[in-house]
Amino acid sequence: MSLSNTLVAICRDLLPAGADLLEGRFRVRRGGLDAGRDAILAVVEGAEAVVADPTVAVDGELLEAAGPQLRAVANFAVGYDNVDLDACRAAEVTVTNTPDVLTNATAELALALTLAAARLIGEAERDLRAGRWRGWDPSAYRGLELSGATVGVVGLGRIGRRYAELLRGFGGEILYSGPSRKADAEQALGARRVELDELLGTADAISLHAPASPATEHLIDADALKRTRPTAVLVNTSRGPLVDLAALAAALREGRLGAAGLDVYEGEPEVPPAILEAPRTVLTPHIGSATVRARDAMARTVAQNVIAVLEGGEPPNRVA
Ligand code: 8YV
Repeated sequence: MSLSNTLVAICRDLLPAGADLLEGRFRVRRGGLDAGRDAILAVVEGAEAVVADPTVAVDGELLEAAGPQLRAVANFAVGYDNVDLDACRAAEVTVTNTPDVLTNATAELALALTLAAARLIGEAERDLRAGRWRGWDPSAYRGLELSGATVGVVGLGRIGRRYAELLRGFGGEILYSGPSRKADAEQALGARRVELDELLGTADAISLHAPASPATEHLIDADALKRTRPTAVLVNTSRGPLVDLAALAAALREGRLGAAGLDVYEGEPEVPPAILEAPRTVLTPHIGSATVRARDAMARTVAQNVIAVLEGGEPPNRVA
């Protein structure tokens, strides 16, 4: 049976690596990167599959706007905190994500931010570009050396584990915290599971790799930042709501935290002025998965999941 009249709605955009696969089989409608909420609700109307991304809230309102024929929501991301899974289950809509293909890219960005924050690269570059570099100074820009440093990985899932593997090359101890023990990672990496409080109080570099959920909201708040070492480096490539940005900015300003490398922000793309102005920060605009290889693979994965559901099969990456 031809599915060429079946409508697939791409709420915003999808790279050709995935869009071409969909366009060859289905009728495809796109909202475009600038689509606001009303435009997205209009784009999904009548669709049998919806392609979303972390900026699109897939909730009861969107499911209703799509209509009862909707069968799949394919999220262009490994994280799916933007999707109301209960509402999708109730509407019998399959939800899929894009795991694995972005593990290396995101872990590598976390490593880059760890190094850049530890060595105050953002600060140093801003000074140089602004003409504030007055010559070599042995006391300037003295950062944290990662070799031998104790690294704390909050959430040893796919990305956290890959980050730990990369950090292992620096030869320090690897601590992790999380809801379950990862015996294989303990063996392979020599990682040690500790309570979050111990991790925060011990680690020289702390990297967050947990999903956004009510349990992880403001996991790093003013209290948590009282426990960290004043020289510690905090990195977040997971989801913005894990970190209370006002508390983080205060800790940096007051010298209670060494440095921070952030890729995600609560309320993004807005970034609070307190963080923009905070010292010893390296800030990137949610580019964790932004490599050619990962983004093309994510787009293909989205398309494969949509095709599987619409052709009546089991999608490779079902989350609900
Ligand atoms: C973004 C991500 O999806 O996969 C995730 O959970 O956060 C990223 O890969 C991607 O950058 C598109 O917004």
